[in-house]
Amino acid sequence: MSSPNESSSPASHGCTATPITLPPRLPPSPCCCDSDPITGLKQLFVDYFQGKGMAAGRDPATRPVFLRLHGVAHGRFTVAPNLPDVHKVGVFAQAREYSAWVRFSADVQPGVPDLKGTTGIGIKLFGVAGPKLLEPDQDASTHDFILQNHDVFFADTAKDMCEFTCQSLHDKRDEYLNEHPVTAQILKEMEKRVESALTTPYWSVLPSRFGDARFVKYKLEPLETPPADAPPNFDDPFYLRADLHARLRRGAARFRFMVQFQTDEREMPLDAATVRWSEQASPPVEVGILELPLQDLDARGQSAYGENLAYNTWHALAAHMPVGSLADARKDAYRASAGNRRNVNGVPLAEPAEPRPPQYAPGVDYPAAVDTRIVRAAIHPAIGIARVGNSATEYYVGPQVLDPSPMPPGFYRDATGALKREARSSGSTATTRPATSCAS
Ligand code: HEM
Repeated sequence: MSSPNESSSPASHGCTATPITLPPRLPPSPCCCDSDPITGLKQLFVDYFQGKGMAAGRDPATRPVFLRLHGVAHGRFTVAPNLPDVHKVGVFAQAREYSAWVRFSADVQPGVPDLKGTTGIGIKLFGVAGPKLLEPDQDASTHDFILQNHDVFFADTAKDMCEFTCQSLHDKRDEYLNEHPVTAQILKEMEKRVESALTTPYWSVLPSRFGDARFVKYKLEPLETPPADAPPNFDDPFYLRADLHARLRRGAARFRFMVQFQTDEREMPLDAATVRWSEQASPPVEVGILELPLQDLDARGQSAYGENLAYNTWHALAAHMPVGSLADARKDAYRASAGNRRNVNGVPLAEPAEPRPPQYAPGVDYPAAVDTRIVRAAIHPAIGIARVGNSATEYYVGPQVLDPSPMPPGFYRDATGALKREARSSGSTATTRPATSCAS
């Protein structure tokens, strides 16, 4: 991340207005973190950081974080049968089964390998009845969960997160980490070597309500994983994508979806996200199963569909309201980020009314596309460019320079009118071997 050198007046970087400029300007320290960290985080993550990628021409426009896509899968979420009444709350109290679309991602920037990046998962359930918390999607039938492969966050509150981000973008990350050893330690622990996006557990990290008087964190635990084609190739910068695609081509994956209840207000705080909720003190309880059936993640349209979805923990029933200052900050930042990238990409803003069917028609795969876009052209092997010619016997020595000047008309053809082949000159030595070339 680069250091800013723009000068800016306080008025142009107010904490209430959104100062969108092209190229986007980094808000000056302290980035509103002291007075309004929620606006500060939105300005840092969306207006500045996401905007920078877009202004550089990134196409399609992406999320600012968790933008590395491992894969998008369709699935089913089944509420646990025989759930005790005390656990029948919200999503777990209405349907037995929901369709789901799942996005697996990593929090790494382009050019950075998967290895040791944080792995994330977004789960969107369809057909959930009842008003939702996020405006303007209150009438949507979707309900989202977002989890990552570590159980605590590296900042306690929105203010801490804002200050960390502000300092980092101002090239003072090391200074911040020296002064905040807990953040430094958790960031280090988050650098895990994940074998597969289907074999790692995930945690919501932040708490949510569970009905009127209880609070939970969510956990996803692998239950059944299809085999890999090969051991993970950690040298492949995109090995988690390769693994995920290969495994789901072989069979179904299943995860246990669990809730961990807050059983002690002091030991399990609601707005101190670096504090681990002990699984010994309060073991997570299974409330459902997420199943991803055998499928081809490369199927036409599947990745694009998931990339254009907007996962937001506030796409939720009030019974599952996210709590804490970090949750409040996410509401604005995620909504703004999704709106921004969808507007730039020309994608409608609304939540989908229906899930994309997993197949074109029952038993019929989506028709394959024909790729006609040339993304790269190269001459191979790279030995130079020369006219091949079609003269049976004659050639000329053609220097790859402007001086000497070209020979008079007729010189380049033999007596039959065929083009002489061009031999190349290497230093002072001419070679009469016909040059291999794409040009003629
Ligand atoms: C204040 C704290 C946070 C901020 C400002 C923030 C910001 C963002 C933003 C802007 C996006 C992209 C949204 C979109 O364009 O759709 C995003 C995605 C994501 N975030 Fe956060 N985030 C925060 C905390 C967390 C936490 C605690 C987790 C842990 C579970 C998390 C996990 C993810 C994941 C997995 C995604 C990708 C979701 C998807 O697949 O679309 N974030 N975050």
